Amino acid sequence: MLDTDAWWRDAVIYQVYPRSFADSDGDGMGDLPGITGRLQHLQELGIDAVWLSPFYPSPQHDAGYDVADYRGVDPRFGELGDADKLIAEAHGRGIKVIVDLVPNHTSSEHAWFQAALAAGPGSPERERYIFRSSGEEPPNSWKSVFGGSAWERLPDGDWYLHLFDVSQPDLNWDNPEVRAEFLDVLRFWLDRGVDGFRVDVAHGLVKEANLTDWTTTSTILGGLDPAGPPPPMWDQEGVHEIYQSWRRVLDEYPGGRILVAEAWVAPASRLARYVRPDEMHQAFNFPYLDAPWRPAELRAVIDETLEANDAVGATTTWVLSNHDVVRHASRLGFPVGTPRMPGIGAEDPQPDAALGLRRARAATLLMLGLPGSAYLYQGEELGLPEHTTMPDEFREDPAWERSGHAERGRDGCRVPLPWEADAPSYGFGPTDASWLPQPATWAEYALDRQQGVPGSTWELYRTALSLRREHGLGRGSVVWQEGAFAFRNGDVLVLTNFGSEAVELPSGARLLVSSEPLDGDGRIPTDVTVWAAL
Ligand code: NOJ
Repeated sequence: MLDTDAWWRDAVIYQVYPRSFADSDGDGMGDLPGITGRLQHLQELGIDAVWLSPFYPSPQHDAGYDVADYRGVDPRFGELGDADKLIAEAHGRGIKVIVDLVPNHTSSEHAWFQAALAAGPGSPERERYIFRSSGEEPPNSWKSVFGGSAWERLPDGDWYLHLFDVSQPDLNWDNPEVRAEFLDVLRFWLDRGVDGFRVDVAHGLVKEANLTDWTTTSTILGGLDPAGPPPPMWDQEGVHEIYQSWRRVLDEYPGGRILVAEAWVAPASRLARYVRPDEMHQAFNFPYLDAPWRPAELRAVIDETLEANDAVGATTTWVLSNHDVVRHASRLGFPVGTPRMPGIGAEDPQPDAALGLRRARAATLLMLGLPGSAYLYQGEELGLPEHTTMPDEFREDPAWERSGHAERGRDGCRVPLPWEADAPSYGFGPTDASWLPQPATWAEYALDRQQGVPGSTWELYRTALSLRREHGLGRGSVVWQEGAFAFRNGDVLVLTNFGSEAVELPSGARLLVSSEPLDGDGRIPTDVTVWAAL
C-alpha cells in the first residue's frame, strides 16, 4: 500500500447533506449539480473529502435513508451522470468522495420489498427481510428507534421488522442473496470512482437468532450499557464477517477506498473491533460528540478512544455535529451536562446563542488539534446554529411523527445553507424556495458575509485546516501538559481554557490561531482554544 493510500488516517471529511447544500434548479431541494457548483468553496475551505448523505431514488420518508434503488440517483437530486460529474470535478480539485450506504434496511418501495409483499407468506421473496407470523401479537417487544413497535403487520397476517420507520423494512443478512447484492452495490460505486462508503447503522445488520425480547426502548441515539451483553438487535458478533468481506472487495481497488462505520457502540474498545485491520477503516466517535463541555470528561474520552484505536492500529475519528444531532453551536449553549437533545422546539428552553457559538469555535479548534481524522458537518464552518424555533408544520423527520411529537426530531440541523446574505433563499438556490424554512436571522451567517472577514467562523476554519496540514497535526500524538487543559501535538500546543479566569500562554510559545481574540493582556479568556508553536 502506498502511503498516499492511507489518506484517510488524518483526513478532514466534510459531510454534505444533499437536500440542504445547494439547489441548482430552484425547486427548494438541494441537488447534485448544486453540490458540484459549490465545490470550489470546499476546496478553499481546505477539506480532504466529502461524505454525501444518500441521494439514491427514495420516497424520502427518512430523508433518503430509505433507499428504493441502490444504483441510481433520485430525480430530485439529478441523474447518474450528475454523480459522475460530481465525482470527477471533486477529484479534479483534490477532494475525495465518500457515499452513504444503507444496508440495514431498504425502503418499502424497493423492488425486493414490493416482490415480498406480492409473493406472500412463506415465499423466498420474504426471506430477504425479517418476516414472522405470530398471530395477533408482534413477534417480540422490540421498539423502533423512531418510536412505537418495531413490527408492522400486513393484511395477510405476517409481521415484518423495521428498527426505524415503518417504511424501512430490515433486511435479512442471513440470506446469501442479500450479502451478494451489497457486494455488487459496492462494486457499482467503486467502479464509478467513489473513494469510500459511510455505512449506516453498521452495528445493526445482524440480529440475535432468537429475536429475544428486549424491553428497554431500542435506540441508536442513546448509550448502550457497556457492562451488559449487547442488545439483541445491535452489535452482534456476526456483523464483523460482513465487513471483512466488504474490505476484501475494497482492497481490490487502487487508491485507498474506505469504509466508515456509523455504529453507536460502547465502550471504545468494543467499537474498535469494527476497525480491526481486516474490517473497516474508521468509525464515528460518538462518545466524543456526546461528551459534556468539561475538561475531565473530554480528556477521558480522548484518552480512551486513542488507546482503543491504537490497540488495533486504527486511526481515531472526531466529530461534533451531523444531520442527526443538535448542531454544536447550539448544543454547547445549554448548561453544561444537558444531555444531547433529539431536537428543540420553540416552546423548549432555548440555548444561549453567543455562548454556544463561542464554545463551538473553541470545541472545533480543540478537535482539529487532535491526531486522527475529523468529520465536519455542512454549515458548522459558518457557525450555523440549530433552527430551534421552526414551526411544527414544516417538520418532516419521521422521528418527530412516530414519537407522537414527543421528540422534536432532527429537522433543526438540516436547514438549507446560507451562501449569499442578500439573495433569495440566501443563495441556497436561484429562487426563494427552501424545503425547510431558513430563519430570518441567517443573513449574518452567509458565506459572503464571512469570506475575508478576520475572526469570522469561516476564516477560523480555513486557518485551522491550513495550519493543521502545515504542522501535521492529523498524524501527530497527544502529550498532555501540566496545569490547564493542554496537550502537545508535535510542535504545537493546543490549550483550551475551561476555567473562569483568563490564563497565560506558556512563555516562549508563539500564537498560531485562537478561537476568539486574546484579552488586552494577551491572555487566553474562558471558553477559548489556542494553538501555539513551541
Ligand atoms: C442513521 C442516519 O444517520 C439517520 O439519519 C437515519 O435516520 C438512520 N440511520 C436510519 O437509516
